[in-house]
Amino acid sequence: MRNIKNLVEKINILKKEKNAVILGHCYQNLEIDEVADYVGDSLQLSRLASQTDADIIVFAGVYFMAETAKILSPDKKVLLPKLDAGCRMADMVDLEQMREFKAMYPDIPVVCYVNSSADVKAEADICCTSANAVKVVKSLNVPKVLFAPDKYLGSYVGSQVPETEVVTYPGYCPTHLAILVEDVQNMKAAYPEAMVLVHPECHKAVVELADYVGSTTGIMKYAKESDAEKFIIVTEKGVVDRLTRDYPDKKFYLVCKKAVCPNMKMNTLDDILRVLETEENEIFVDEEIAAKARLAIERMVAING
Ligand code: 13P
Ligand code: SF4
Repeated sequence: MRNIKNLVEKINILKKEKNAVILGHCYQNLEIDEVADYVGDSLQLSRLASQTDADIIVFAGVYFMAETAKILSPDKKVLLPKLDAGCRMADMVDLEQMREFKAMYPDIPVVCYVNSSADVKAEADICCTSANAVKVVKSLNVPKVLFAPDKYLGSYVGSQVPETEVVTYPGYCPTHLAILVEDVQNMKAAYPEAMVLVHPECHKAVVELADYVGSTTGIMKYAKESDAEKFIIVTEKGVVDRLTRDYPDKKFYLVCKKAVCPNMKMNTLDDILRVLETEENEIFVDEEIAAKARLAIERMVAING
């Protein structure tokens, strides 16, 4: 039988011995929180990855997150517990496709969602996450930007920054797009007093039903601070799991069973222990690409909020 307590103990001992830090995204399996030093959204995790003084970063998340940590901390060893935990949206744009997209709109600033590979980020002027995409585009103060790879986040940003035309690449998150208007309406019918909290990777028509739109951490903070007692959570299941654990006096309803990212769920405590023991699954990024991508990420990290 799998002994979680035992796994946690072994991981914590190795973590100390090797001066390792464990970063986890809030879509991870809940058990990851037992050993994670920090759990948060992509923006918080990027900031933490650039600030830590650990020798090893174990990234409990998907590939682009570990790659971002390596770009920001090139001298550290970055390990991804499951190497095939990729982001299906990030995989929708490769270097050639990104260059073709840019070639269609020469001389227009390029904003790249961090859910993308290092060589795609290297083609961008600035990165963004779902937490700061609106702020990043506003900061550019230009009439037109290119936005890749998420068409839905890009068009949400366009609706919030009407002075800037946002031209989007046709990528999307299959998990968030599986959430339909009917799913939200059915939950609203069952819990009419509940607030609807939505991630901006969702369909526009789903976002339009929201009382609040924000990143995973934004949603969690809103739920924590709100006086309301019931919430329909319109993003990945990990957010509901953490809210239910942390705020037992409130009720959280996952919008539908499809709201699960299979890749985010790949990492387990067993994988974390294995990579800490063996130091396998190390992430490498070509230094020339990393230097360009770092500029785009650092410009984003420098924008407050
Ligand atoms: P956050 O920017 O909220 O961390 O979301 C990342 C992600 O992968 C959403 O699908
Ligand atoms: Fe990528 Fe979507 Fe999974 Fe986020 S939820 S990691 S965008 S596939």
